[in-house]
Amino acid sequence: MQLRSKPVLTASLGGTRPEGFGHGQLCAEHDRLGLQLQRIQAELTAGSLETAKAKFQQFRAALESHQRLEETILFPQFRQSGIVPDCELIGELYEEHEMIRGQIETVQASLERDGKVNELLEQLGALLNAHESKEELFFYPMLFHLADPDFVAELFHSVHRRLVPNAAEPI
Ligand SMILES: [Fe+2]
Repeated sequence: MQLRSKPVLTASLGGTRPEGFGHGQLCAEHDRLGLQLQRIQAELTAGSLETAKAKFQQFRAALESHQRLEETILFPQFRQSGIVPDCELIGELYEEHEMIRGQIETVQASLERDGKVNELLEQLGALLNAHESKEELFFYPMLFHLADPDFVAELFHSVHRRLVPNAAEPI
């Protein structure tokens, strides 16, 4: 599994976004999820199935927290704000979350059955990478650059710690 790099994102945003706030933290969560997937695959390669299963549960919980934050707060607020009228992007992001959850279930079932999940993890990684790139390149910039800064700041700080309490902790 390849760790996704994001040179385009960094270059495209330049110095225009507030460092360490909102956008950066959500992207950092994406990076941590990718790292967790890599570590699961490393455990499988080493033959440590039980450790891989445990790490997959951690990954799953972290991903669910991240998606919950987006689905319960960020996506609805973005739609309601009317920043981009008739924006189809949010619908696509919801659908992709569903696809990712489906792949999570498939991996989980295979882990329990025979542990042969390398290809399934590759597929999950590809789904995640494509989805996260879309969020990072289109959704987060629109949310954090076009929305009223006070609104976004209040939104982010009021929900992030409650919904993703361990986000700042190392894996
Ligand atoms: Fe995300």
